[in-house]
Amino acid sequence: MEKVSKRILSGVQPSGDLHLGNYLGAIKNFVSLQKEFECFFCVVDLHAITVWQDPKILKQKTREVAAAFIASGIDPEKNTLFVQSQVPQHAQLAWIFNCVARMGWLNRMTQFKDKAGKNSENVSVGLFSYPTLMAADILIYLATHVPVGEDQKQHLELTRDIAQKFNSDFKTDIFPIPEPLILGAATRVMSLRDGLKKMSKSDPSDYSRIMLSDSEEEIQKKIRKAKTDPLPLPDNIEDAKKRPEAINLLTIYAALNDLEVEKAVANYAGKEFSQFKKDLGELASAKLSPISLEMNKLMKDEKYLDSIISNGKERAINVAEPVLSKIYEIIGFFRD
Ligand code: TYM
Repeated sequence: MEKVSKRILSGVQPSGDLHLGNYLGAIKNFVSLQKEFECFFCVVDLHAITVWQDPKILKQKTREVAAAFIASGIDPEKNTLFVQSQVPQHAQLAWIFNCVARMGWLNRMTQFKDKAGKNSENVSVGLFSYPTLMAADILIYLATHVPVGEDQKQHLELTRDIAQKFNSDFKTDIFPIPEPLILGAATRVMSLRDGLKKMSKSDPSDYSRIMLSDSEEEIQKKIRKAKTDPLPLPDNIEDAKKRPEAINLLTIYAALNDLEVEKAVANYAGKEFSQFKKDLGELASAKLSPISLEMNKLMKDEKYLDSIISNGKERAINVAEPVLSKIYEIIGFFRD
């Protein structure tokens, strides 16, 4: 197979409203990386159904993620934007990887443990084998780099293990060993209600996260109401790191402004939270509201969105199909 040196794949689930963590940890980085890399950006609906999704809204949520990609600045002509379930090669390779990955590897996945909690006997088998599908998403394109938030790091390590084991079991070098790209100041955005909990789509409190679809007023209100401790802002980064809510808000400020966190801490050292929150609210709404406006516009133009998705499907299949075919040959599957 022809070797590629700079190819990205990344995915976002259509399982709820996109939030500031998805934007700062992933989508914002996709936008800057598109200049340098050949990119495949995928709406991972097969991953979404590892937990229950309402069939009445899944399609709409899928369009919404595609709209968020475009509204954030991803060029749908230059890059391949597509929906995972439309490219069957992902699921086909995932099955093969289920036979490569070891139970012990998957048993170590902390995200499964967090999501399953005490209910592990009752969650879907898909939730457990989720990371092998993620490895297939990446490796079916022979992607070399994967931009993600910090929470996906362990899944990326598993992907590397699967690629290595496949290559060594079958004495091939077909798969690259993909590098995670965990970039920017905010690689792990925390809840606005609890600085020790990750900002997530599944948190029951709307006030825990800023959604890409929030209005300017909602964004400012959520930041005003964000939990903080009673002290003024920290004087230095070491003190800031000991105060989970303070470091989270400072990190968000830094990431939105493309600053180092240290610089954000220095700008507000010793100041009151009221002033900082006002500035952060204004900054966040100024950065996010153009995205939300553009998303709303795109969501009204279903024809356009669907044509992008359908074009992406074709482009993705054109790359994925020959790779799968080569893998079948390597494994020794019957071919006619
Ligand atoms: P998902 O849909 O949960 O999140 C999409 C992206 O957003 C990042 N992210 C965050 N970053 C910083 N702070 C947060 N609080 C935060 N919450 C989410 C995630 O790290 C991710 O980059 N398994 C993936 C989807 C996936 C994928 C892939 C990613 C499927 N196949 C192949 C990369 C490559 C997931 O559930 O992301």
